[in-house]
Amino acid sequence: MKLFIIGGAGYIGSHIVKLAYENGHEVITLDNLSTGHKDSVLYGKFEYCDIQDSNRLNELFKNYNPDAVMHFSAYSIVGESTIDPYKYYYNNTVGTLNLLKIMIDNDCKNFIFSSTAAVFGNPEYIPIDETHPKNPINPYGKSKLMVEQMLEDFDSAHGLKYVVFRYFNAAGHDKSGKLAERHDPETHLLPLVIQTLNGQRESISIYGSDYDTKDGTCIRDYIHVNDLAQVHLQGVEYLLSGDNGSKVYNLGSGNGFSVKEIIEKVKGITGKDFKVIEDERREGDPAVLIASSKRAKKELGFSPKIDKIDDIIRTLIN
Ligand SMILES: NC(=O)c1ccc[n+]([C@@H]2O[C@H](COP(=O)([O-])OP(=O)(O)OC[C@H]3O[C@@H](n4cnc5c(N)ncnc54)[C@H](O)[C@@H]3O)[C@@H](O)[C@H]2O)c1
Repeated sequence: MKLFIIGGAGYIGSHIVKLAYENGHEVITLDNLSTGHKDSVLYGKFEYCDIQDSNRLNELFKNYNPDAVMHFSAYSIVGESTIDPYKYYYNNTVGTLNLLKIMIDNDCKNFIFSSTAAVFGNPEYIPIDETHPKNPINPYGKSKLMVEQMLEDFDSAHGLKYVVFRYFNAAGHDKSGKLAERHDPETHLLPLVIQTLNGQRESISIYGSDYDTKDGTCIRDYIHVNDLAQVHLQGVEYLLSGDNGSKVYNLGSGNGFSVKEIIEKVKGITGKDFKVIEDERREGDPAVLIASSKRAKKELGFSPKIDKIDDIIRTLIN
């Protein structure tokens, strides 16, 4: 398959580039390097491109004629989205609308979209399945939900077929040690804990210790980035293997760990202590997010290999 991997210079995209290439696919990364790193694109071709740039996108679709597009490019910091919503709606929603238009113009109708647990807002029940009500509580989640809604209309009107994957928390690194999570600023818990462990930060902050959870800190569901990569390939194979309909899947492990538990696990695994500060809550953080991935398991054969949190943490430490 010839795959456009948009946002392939980012954390998750770069892991997909590697796995897709290793599976014999032709991979072309399109990225504007706003949060990604060119040296994370270890395989295939790299094309500098902003998804807002219709002319450049058109030129690339005409040159390569890809079989499918995997779309990872977005801004994804919840707190930032609450203070600068324009940035999020413009890049995540308007940018994707532009991309979809160019895809239809070029008769490319297979699309994989990175969505998020943030489309659900505060859960009404746990674990969260695909039919759970969608009431996002921050512009980031809203910007992604709007794309999900646009996709339904592009399918009805133009026959665009898509698989939406809503990830909960992607974590870990590829065991080659060649790829890493390198967000700047970093806002994800596990890389922040590792930075603290390494002495790159003085302390790790816990944002909110008064949530209605067992130890008062937020509970999240972690999925290893290589398991995410694998199920994306299964998704694109599903789309290209016949006249298959569009699908939406939640992806997680089905297990939740609190912020305090993760910190204690890292301390336990490494035998090292570090400074932890209890800070104020951040705006837009639901107390508990745990996925039900039953549908992906049943329909796509999603089968995480690194499904124990200790093993996910070890891939970061190693
Ligand atoms: N990391 C997670 O835990 C997580 C959880 C749920 C959903 N997601 C979604 O997964 C996707 C990838 O996340 P990530 O953590 O790898 O993020 P990332 O910031 O590491 O990667 C995003 C990539 O997209 C590129 N990009 C951004 N805007 C662009 C534009 N206008 N044109 C071209 N390229 C552009 C960036 O340069 C970067 O390489 C995002 O859509 C995010 O919303 C991530």
